[in-house]
Amino acid sequence: MNNRSTPIYGQITGWGAYVPEKVLTNHDFPPELETSDEWIFQRTGIRARRIAAPDETTCTLSLHASRAALTQAGVQAAELDLIIVATSTPDHHTPPVSSQLQHSLGATDVPAFVIVTGCTGFVYALSTAYQFIHSGAYRTILVVGVELLSRFVDWTDRSMCVLFGDAAGAVVIQATERACGLRSFVLGSDGSQSEQIMMHGGGSAHPFSQEVLDNRQQYVQMNGREVFKFATRIVGPACEQAAAKAGLTLADIDWIIPHQANLRIIQAAAKTMDFPLERFVVNIEHYANTSAASIPLALTENLANGRILPTDRLLLVAFGAGLTWGAAVVEMSPR
Ligand code: UT7
Repeated sequence: MNNRSTPIYGQITGWGAYVPEKVLTNHDFPPELETSDEWIFQRTGIRARRIAAPDETTCTLSLHASRAALTQAGVQAAELDLIIVATSTPDHHTPPVSSQLQHSLGATDVPAFVIVTGCTGFVYALSTAYQFIHSGAYRTILVVGVELLSRFVDWTDRSMCVLFGDAAGAVVIQATERACGLRSFVLGSDGSQSEQIMMHGGGSAHPFSQEVLDNRQQYVQMNGREVFKFATRIVGPACEQAAAKAGLTLADIDWIIPHQANLRIIQAAAKTMDFPLERFVVNIEHYANTSAASIPLALTENLANGRILPTDRLLLVAFGAGLTWGAAVVEMSPR
């Protein structure tokens, strides 16, 4: 454990993402769904999403993103001390997909676990990883945000199936004595609103049965309007709190990377904050809502295209099932 006087920080040294090859545009939905590119784009900002191939699973999506992040960091899988996977759509209820990933990576005997906090998962996982680094328990951690929601949405329900896409993103965090990495975090949960995003069937409350299937309760359901209101209310305060906890104001932040659920949520939140909309990283148009994968996907994409610099100070913010929320200030390198 960390008994030394010098604090230990956790720097993000590698990042990677993976999206399936198949692109499903708003024009590809069948006429019987009674939707349109116009409705979807105006209400959400989404034009397309990626859909996993039949032989792809949450584990294989994670594997691609993880390998990219490890390569970028110059870290071998066997050098990992811990693997944390944020997802609500694992390959199976049991075993944890984190152990499947650990084995697939060849990270022999490395501890691994899953965090299930819906779309907030990556921020929760990053904050958790930091505790292991800061305490001195572990020095090299892989954090993955991954979701294969196309297998959990009802493709006959236009209010849901147009919103989501499949993707994975991963980062490698390494211990350093130089002040950088995760500088603050804010996490929250309001279980009184747990029914706003819910998969009713398949758990201990309603195990799989013919009735569950007849009621289509194997699919995720959402009260979109309520979640929308919650999200627009929480994003601004969560960002301001995270900045304040890092001893900063929003003026000190280079980019906000929000969970990509709806462009209108981002626009509405931006209006309540003293932060320009142009400095929000947005890619929902191409990938839709990829839940726990959306932030590491946007991070990786924008580091790769040079929009985010490896020296930038970032604020990540997410909200989702639970209902949960989370925000974190991340400095890509010492300042
Ligand atoms: O990532 C986890 C968190 N999730 C979110 O943050 C999602 C938050 N919520 C939202 O993004 C928005 O609430 C939605 C995009 C889900 C819905 O947008 P909305 O403006 O709140 O629409 P609505 O649900 O109030 O529906 C408006 C109308 C309804 O018709 P009526 O009742 O007014 O006649 C719907 O039946 O739009 C209809 N509708 C559609 N029409 C065409 C719903 N889905 C569709 C569709 N195509 N795909």
